[in-house]
Amino acid sequence: MAAASPLRLGVNIDHVATIRNARGGAHPDPVEAALLAVKAGADGITAHLREDRRHIRDEDIATLMAALTVPLNLEMAATQEMLGIALKHRPHAACIVPEKREERTTEGGLDAAGQFDALRPIVAALGEAGVRVSLFIEPDAAQIDAAIRLGAPVVEFHTGAYAHLDGSARAAELRRIADAAALAAKNGIEPHAGHGLTFDNVAPIAAIPQIAELNIGHFLIGEAIFGGLEGSIREMRRQMDLAR
Ligand code: PXP
Repeated sequence: MAAASPLRLGVNIDHVATIRNARGGAHPDPVEAALLAVKAGADGITAHLREDRRHIRDEDIATLMAALTVPLNLEMAATQEMLGIALKHRPHAACIVPEKREERTTEGGLDAAGQFDALRPIVAALGEAGVRVSLFIEPDAAQIDAAIRLGAPVVEFHTGAYAHLDGSARAAELRRIADAAALAAKNGIEPHAGHGLTFDNVAPIAAIPQIAELNIGHFLIGEAIFGGLEGSIREMRRQMDLAR
């Protein structure tokens, strides 16, 4: 088995903003949550600026960029509007995600193979601006091939199917993610993973040696209701390290 690289934790703070927006004020502040997440062991902060601004808003990106001492990973749809915002702020990384207005969350990976021509100028422009591009894809050889041809340095595998399956179907999906991580790494692409990860399902994903980063949000923010944000992040960090 390949030697495991260090495993980073990116904490997605979108749902702190969801709660804030429920009352239209400033509390709870996603930037304060981001700083607390870093204190608790997050290696980076992830935020998804959606087209409908249902959680993170434009001004949050500016405030996060000013306040953070760790990398910001901006999740964005492959649109000209989002490209303009990313080029203005130049976050450490941009993860290109598929986005449908009516979906509750990012359902399924980006079709990098099918949307190759539309993605090419966006990936190139971000790369030229020094933004590390990641493509949020299914753990699938055709999608990895498209990422290679697009010159993306990072792919993030969508773990939503893994998280929702049980038994042998989950084991098969885990193998698919492990094989995809090995294939990406063999081709010089850094594999990340995320979506739907919890204390109960994170360990097998964290144990895949090539995976360098997990991005986790909804569960950590939900769990914070019971154990506090620092507590939920510290416990996730502990479980990730134990699995490694
Ligand atoms: N990674 C990406 C690219 C995502 O879009 C999301 C959530 O939208 C996550 C990770 C985190 O997923 P979750 O909130 O289910 O932990």
